[in-house]
Amino acid sequence: MKKIPVWIDCDTGVDDAAALLCAHKLPQAELVGISAVAGNVELEKTYANCHRLTALMGADYPIYKGADKPWFRPLTIATYIHGEDGLGGAELPLPPLQNRPEPAWDALYAAARKYEGELELVAVGPLTNIANAVVKYPDLPQYLKRIVIMGGAAIGGNCTPCAEFNIYVDPHAAQCVFKSGIPVVMCGLDVTMKAYFTDGEIDAAAAAGGDVRRFFRESTRRAMQFCTGLGLPGVSFHDVCALFYVFFPDMFSGDEGGVYVETQSSLTLGKTVTDIYSDHQFEHHNAYVVLDLDRERFVKTITELLAEY
Ligand code: RIB
Ligand code: CA
Repeated sequence: MKKIPVWIDCDTGVDDAAALLCAHKLPQAELVGISAVAGNVELEKTYANCHRLTALMGADYPIYKGADKPWFRPLTIATYIHGEDGLGGAELPLPPLQNRPEPAWDALYAAARKYEGELELVAVGPLTNIANAVVKYPDLPQYLKRIVIMGGAAIGGNCTPCAEFNIYVDPHAAQCVFKSGIPVVMCGLDVTMKAYFTDGEIDAAAAAGGDVRRFFRESTRRAMQFCTGLGLPGVSFHDVCALFYVFFPDMFSGDEGGVYVETQSSLTLGKTVTDIYSDHQFEHHNAYVVLDLDRERFVKTITELLAEY
């Protein structure tokens, strides 16, 4: 089987961790590199968490450190969901850090060149690293197949009434990415809020025990409490949607359109403005906006991948 080369840029938090665990067990995935960005928690923690996860899965993927803050905004973190450590308080041993000298954007560009247009970039945190690569390497669009992000929302928000966290943290970087000319698939809240596990489904996925499944259960307790406390049916594994879109596109549906980011207004800062519900009048349709998924298949696929550990 021809493997699909993929790079994951993440702010390893709870759902980023689930995406990494799934990526390692996807037979058709060649995980080329992992890069960390500040987001759910500070960069030192997201970078360390990437190491904790690769140690947990028994892998040694190259891990690169990226941006420790957004382009212009002060860093906003999400410890209220992900905990101070970013992993919901689930204890994982910390292996020696790789401390590679090249920053995330240099390593990403080198990988894009190496894979000559085949590399799929899955970006599931604030887009600061990606925007740095776009600015530093103007020819990057020639070498990246596309960028599949977890971020944004055609309707609604979670960080503010109209902005999703990853975009809100660094709206200027996000705007740079949407305007880069690289095809973007936007897995926003429209689809990821439907991509949830109930508490019972997490218990079922973790029932066989073992370090990975125990982590999956322990790392999601805080988020489950937060989400059900808001009246939601469960915990969304937002980031896994972006990964799965690459490997199981028929699990999802959506619409082509234009997507651009509000970077000026204090009220709507970070809103991803799309024309998919207003006769598509934007000149450039720069994105595919994912709107729906087969949730039962989503849950089953994650459960089966975790059973591989
Ligand atoms: O809004 C959800 C997104 O913000 C997810 O990527 C989660 O990990 C946080 O980064
Ligand atoms: Ca994330």
